[in-house]
Amino acid sequence: MAQPTPQTMEPHRAQWKTQWGFLLAAVGSAIGLGSIWRFAYVCYENGGGAYLIPYFVALVTAGVPLMILEYGIGHQMRGSAPMSFAKLSPHWEWLGWWTVTFVMFGIVLYYAVVIAWCVCYLWFSLSLAWGADPNAFFFQQFLGVTAGPQVIGDIRSPILLALVIVWAANWLIVFFGVEHGIEKANKIFMPLLMILILVLVGWTLTLPGSMDGMLRYLKPDFSRLTDPKVWVDAYSQIFFTLSLGFGIMVAYASYLPKKADLHRDAWVTSLVDTAVSLVAGLAVFGTLGYMAAQTGKPFEQVVQHGIGLAFVAYPQAISLLPHLQQAFGVVFFLTLTVAGIASSISILEAFCAAVMDKFHYPRKTVVTVLSVVGFLGGIVFATGGGLSWLDIVDHFLSHYGLFLACILQCVLVGWVYGAHRLREHVNAVSATPVGKWLLDVPIRYLIPAVLAYLLISDVIKDIREPYGGYPWMALLLIGRDWLVVTLLAALIIAMRPWRKPLK
Ligand code: PHE
Repeated sequence: MAQPTPQTMEPHRAQWKTQWGFLLAAVGSAIGLGSIWRFAYVCYENGGGAYLIPYFVALVTAGVPLMILEYGIGHQMRGSAPMSFAKLSPHWEWLGWWTVTFVMFGIVLYYAVVIAWCVCYLWFSLSLAWGADPNAFFFQQFLGVTAGPQVIGDIRSPILLALVIVWAANWLIVFFGVEHGIEKANKIFMPLLMILILVLVGWTLTLPGSMDGMLRYLKPDFSRLTDPKVWVDAYSQIFFTLSLGFGIMVAYASYLPKKADLHRDAWVTSLVDTAVSLVAGLAVFGTLGYMAAQTGKPFEQVVQHGIGLAFVAYPQAISLLPHLQQAFGVVFFLTLTVAGIASSISILEAFCAAVMDKFHYPRKTVVTVLSVVGFLGGIVFATGGGLSWLDIVDHFLSHYGLFLACILQCVLVGWVYGAHRLREHVNAVSATPVGKWLLDVPIRYLIPAVLAYLLISDVIKDIREPYGGYPWMALLLIGRDWLVVTLLAALIIAMRPWRKPLK
């Protein structure tokens, strides 16, 4: 592993032009497909308004502390995750590489494919192409779903075409760098996203029955709070939705000027993401309420989760609208596309920053190579077997990979480096000091304990019965090996010498 030498500041590191630019980019990474359709469903399923209690507990005890941690080390060490971790302790550089590798060569590959679906549906909205049976349209005609992950099937050309568009957009934005690419894009994307969501909510409110749906979404059922699953769901939602544990916030914070209120920014990012998720949920459930009223079906029957919600239930509802159906569809799928791209560029940047830090290749070359590789790597998810591949890889990466990486990150900063040292740095630059209870205690004890619990319960569940009912072989060869290969790649890259000695 690389042997760091004493610390000096890098003179020419890119910087955000404004404090706002940084916040918008961080919020852009956090608000994504997960916040828009996953939050609403998980909330409804886990006690409606009562779910906000475990959600906020998870936010305060895990989300904000980890966000402060990532902002803090990125800012103090002025480096991407591998560089910052290597500066914290030379033996931990591999962990930084692992996080950015499994998000770049794993999560974003299929995340971009889901954005590509949204782009296709944006187009389909213009002609309401899903017709009378959006379910059959989505799974059979559009995805061409095969019998399972072992049958790859054919490449779906509309998805492939849309994937080219998504990667071209990612490439174009990150190519122009932190200030002129990412910051500029988010300064357009985030206000646009807020407007689109408000339009959707306002529009939904005019539909008969929508209020009912919104009330069903938020109706508190406090008895659900005794169910551990509700708490588990709240914690696992927090890490993914705030883009924590992937080295993204570390890279973004490394572009901050010396003067930056890290404590305040961590709260702002987390709370804005939550507010947007909540409000977007109103639109989603309002629409479902309208659909229930129109079809006369019980509400429970019109609710679907995950992709079914966006690509089956929503198109169904759009077809039922009295007028301006096309425009409604365009607004909805544009919202998802914009939210998705603002997240995917943050992933690309996290890896790109890491490569530039270590090997000093020019940004433009790194971004171009990564975008081509990202596109090529995504093709497998754009096939008939793609949906099951996506499901398996997502389960392994965003559960096992993410949980394990977050635990190790807490061990590194909380125990090896020392949580109090990080706190001293954060407090030296923040207007309001962070206390032990918000940083040291969660990082050293609480977050590792919660994540270990999540990890162990996943292992037990997966051993008892194969995840998703997939064949064991497929789970091991696709899911487990994806993790192992990214880990090996990380170890190999970490062993390469730094182009310039690490300062
Ligand atoms: N936070 C994003 C969402 O809610 C997802 C994401 C995960 C983005 C990992 C970047 C990295 O959808």
